Amino acid sequence: MPNAASTRQPVFQVRGLTKTYGEGGAIVRALAGVDLECYAGGFIVVLGASGSGKSTLLNLLGGLDTPTSGTLRYRDWELGAADEDALTRYRRDCVGFVFQFYNLSSPA
Ligand SMILES: Nc1ncnc2c1ncn2[C@@H]1O[C@H](COP(=O)(O)OP(=O)(O)O)[C@@H](O)[C@H]1O
Ligand SMILES: [Mg+2]
Repeated sequence: MPNAASTRQPVFQVRGLTKTYGEGGAIVRALAGVDLECYAGGFIVVLGASGSGKSTLLNLLGGLDTPTSGTLRYRDWELGAADEDALTRYRRDCVGFVFQFYNLSSPA
């Protein structure tokens, strides 16, 4: 019997996602082929060593940066190919992002 997740459309569907920074001898392969599905109501922990690409992945899912290759679908829409205007609308209407270093401390 198919499980509930396989019968529903994922909110995010990621296939072969790569992100490289820099070029030539200074190239950094931050993501080298990520596959991922996220479903409504799900709770996902992204765990890995410092520098393993967690922030890079979240920046792509959050529409803050664009992939080097691969597909990044948000519902029926190819987020990975979106231009800046579409990404701005996506960030405004579709996604919330709490930054790691968001300043929540009270003044000293
Ligand atoms: N803007 C950037 N320019 C160049 N290299 C970067 C940039 N952002 C991240 N990197 C590199 O990409 C790799 C993954 O980084 P990052 O996604 O921040 O990992 P994590 O969040 O898991 O610590 C690291 O090698 C990091 O140095
Ligand atoms: Mg990080």
